[in-house]
Order: sequence, then structure tokens, then C-alpha cells
Amino acid sequence: MNRLMEKPRLVSQDHYLLRIGFCPGRSLPGQFITVRISNRHDPLLRRPFSIFNHEGGIIEIIVKTVGTGTELLVRRDPGEIDVIGPLGTGFTLPQGGRVLVAGGGVGNAPLYHLARRLAESRCDVTYLYGARTRSFIYLADRFRDIADRFILATDDGSEGREGLVTDIAAELIEAESFDMIYACGPTAMMRTIVRLANGTPVQVSVETYFGCGTGLCSGCSVETAGVLKRACIDGPVFFGAPLNWDSVPD
Ligand SMILES: Cc1cc2nc3c(=O)[nH]c(=O)nc-3n(C[C@H](O)[C@H](O)[C@H](O)COP(=O)(O)OP(=O)(O)OC[C@H]3O[C@@H](n4cnc5c(N)ncnc54)[C@H](O)[C@@H]3O)c2cc1C
Ligand code: FES
Repeated sequence: MNRLMEKPRLVSQDHYLLRIGFCPGRSLPGQFITVRISNRHDPLLRRPFSIFNHEGGIIEIIVKTVGTGTELLVRRDPGEIDVIGPLGTGFTLPQGGRVLVAGGGVGNAPLYHLARRLAESRCDVTYLYGARTRSFIYLADRFRDIADRFILATDDGSEGREGLVTDIAAELIEAESFDMIYACGPTAMMRTIVRLANGTPVQVSVETYFGCGTGLCSGCSVETAGVLKRACIDGPVFFGAPLNWDSVPD
């Protein structure tokens, strides 16, 4: 059994940071954990959350409250918590080179762990952090600290540059060259970045709806290169170009 180290901390509107102790081994950026919400039968299904950070035996996750499970989870008191993971595939890391990392909203969560590992792999990291408005920005300083260049953008211009992540990514891709692009956020955002990439490989993390989370139900299937893959075990990270985006839920 793992341990919720402290009460979930509100880090921006509707977003909480959870610190979970005694997680074994190392995890790859892009992997996720599943959490049993409560000891009761409802909600029955475990909920998946990307690993935001994993260091010193502690996994951090960001939880955005959207429904019953997440509302209950962020109200948990410190103590035992039932966690399975790390699960799924991680991002492929290049050794060096220039990379663009683009996150939208809660989709920034797996990209913090990624950006830290990219820095260790001697990559030059441009981090593009997008949020709808300033009240949804969480832990920006932590992202700023690990990127070679950090660009903050809000849709309404309330903080950082005004504009959609996709508009700013388009400018960067046109003006500069990158060896790899990583994206996580709303499906429309990831699909647009893949379309803009102009031949640069793009890796995305898809958040389809998970049932079992362990490869048994096929409820999370997406199609890539004409083949159905289960996002919970074959993903959630995929290369964007071969993905059939019609198979990825909005
Ligand atoms: C691989 C993976 C990684 C994820 N990482 C994170 C993360 O780091 N932080 C985080 O806050 N959330 C993350 N999610 C989404 C998170 O799992 C869901 O928001 C959560 O399960 C919702 O549970 P709930 O009981 O609160 O909501 P429910 O009552 O189940 O649903 C409430 C609303 O949320 C929508 N919803 C439920 N699941 C998803 C989903 N997977 N994607 C989009 N909308 C959904 C439903 O359509 C509904 O409108 C991730 C999902 C996956 C598959
Ligand atoms: S969630 Fe059941 S197979 Fe992926």
C-alpha cells in the first residue's frame, strides 16, 4: 500500500498536487498510475493520472476536479492510498538536440517529468505552457526552472502571451527547427500540432477513457498505422503522424 503524504494541495483553480510515497523503482515520463478513489464500491473503477514527477520515492500527480472520483480524491486525508503503477509506455527520449514541449491545461502534467528527463539527456528544451486563463496556471515556476526557454501563454492574454498553444507552436515551428516535438492536452490541440510539424516527429499522450486500465477491456482503443492499440498498455504515448485522430476521443 502506498501513502498519501499530505493533504492534496490546491495549486490553481480546480487543480491539486498530490504527493504519494513509497512508490517503487523509477518511472518513465509519460507513464501513469491508477488510483482507487475510496474504500467503498462507488466509484468502482480506478482513475488514471499521469506522473507529474517521480523523485526520491515520491510520485507527484496533478488532479483536475471534473467529476465524482476526482472530487473525492482531492478531499482525501493523508494516509494509505491504493495505487497501481507505473503503467503504460513512456515518451521516447533523444540524446541531445532541440525539442519543443507543448502542453495545454492539465495536459502539462506528464510533460514536467518529461522535461526534466530531457534536460538530463542534454536536450535544449523549449517549453510552451498553455492555459485557458491565468487562474488555471499551476506550478509555473517549477516548469520555468527546468526549461532552457519557457513560454507561457493564455487564450485570453491574462498572463504571458495571448493566444492558443497551437498558434504559438506554429510560429516556433516555422521560425526554428526542432528534432522532436512533444504534446499533451486537448485532442484538437495535439492533432493540430501534428499537422503543423512539417516532418518533425511528434509524440503525444492521449487521454482516452479507461475502463480496466490493464489491457483487458479494449475500451481505450485507438487506431495507429491501421492497427487498433490499447492506450492503457500500448500507450498512452504514441507518435502522432500514424494516429487515426478520428479514433481519439475529444
Ligand atoms: C492516461 C491518462 C492520464 C491522465 N492524466 C491525468 C492527469 O494527470 N490529471 C488529471 O486531472 N486527469 C488526468 N486524466 C483524466 C482523469 O483520469 C479523469 O479526469 C478522471 O478519471 C475523471 O474521473 P471523475 O470520476 O472525476 O470523473 P467522471 O465522473 O468519470 O467524469 C466527469 C467528466 O470528466 C470526463 N472525463 C472522464 N475521464 C476523462 C478522460 N480520460 N479524458 C477526458 N475527459 C474525461 C467525463 O466525460 C465527464 O464529462 C488522465 C487520463 C488518462 C487516460
Ligand atoms: S482500459 Fe481496458 S484495455 Fe485499456
